[in-house]
Amino acid sequence: MDNKTGNTRKNSVPIGECWSVWHSFSAALLAVAVCGAIVISLGWHTTSVAMGSVVVIVVGLMLLRIHGSMDILSRHSEGLSESAAQAEEHYVDVLLRIVRSVEARDEHLMGHSERVGRLAEGIAINLGLSDQEVRQIKIAGELHDIGMVAIPEHIIAGKAKMGSEGFRTVKTHTEIGYDVLKPLQNIPVALQAARGHHERMNGTGYPQGVIGEAIPLAARIVAVADSYDAMTHDRPHRLAISMHLAVQELKRCSPAGYDPDCVDALAAHLNIPVLEEALCSVMA
Ligand SMILES: [Fe+2]
Repeated sequence: MDNKTGNTRKNSVPIGECWSVWHSFSAALLAVAVCGAIVISLGWHTTSVAMGSVVVIVVGLMLLRIHGSMDILSRHSEGLSESAAQAEEHYVDVLLRIVRSVEARDEHLMGHSERVGRLAEGIAINLGLSDQEVRQIKIAGELHDIGMVAIPEHIIAGKAKMGSEGFRTVKTHTEIGYDVLKPLQNIPVALQAARGHHERMNGTGYPQGVIGEAIPLAARIVAVADSYDAMTHDRPHRLAISMHLAVQELKRCSPAGYDPDCVDALAAHLNIPVLEEALCSVMA
């Protein structure tokens, strides 16, 4: 370990690699011996033997040099991917802090993205996604509204009685979020969710009006988590409804609005039985 950085040293050569280099060197010596034996048995002049041996040794040394360079390149490449992953982690961390500060502008929004991340994670688990996909969907949920950072405070504050102009401005948060998240090349689902979490299965959503399964799964998952969290928390223009009513409402609005599999997965995550018939329409 490096005492200053706490990182494992990358430049030490492991025993296996030394063994490999030793084998290459042995092979070069063997080649010299074989060439020498051949030329002597053929009765060639001593000078030719010496020159042939020198050529074989030089080629052997060059091969060793190439072998060593390949090892160094391979180690550098591993180090670079590790650094890229760390940089991406730091970027996500910075973005999460920005999300929290944006939410702090409105008491009704505080904690919303963190909850959406946990709900999206639960839905992804119940859909049977892999551990890595679940982890990335959680991040996608936490960052889905990052584009709100560009929406002026007076519009957020007046959201309840916002006119069509204000609503047009708010809608841009999906494309802005997509742009902000573009550097996250290894978490493409975060970009998909940021842009697509207001899309609806029948094509009436925004920003692109995509229909059905053309909406990326991450966006369909986050749409369900986002709407559920919004319904179960107070907003300036309405009070929160219960978990059961919210799930029934999501069920009522699928498959036209939401992906039914994602709604069922949310119900399973929350351990709520889903009735075939919605009890009532609370969001009408
Ligand atoms: Fe949103």
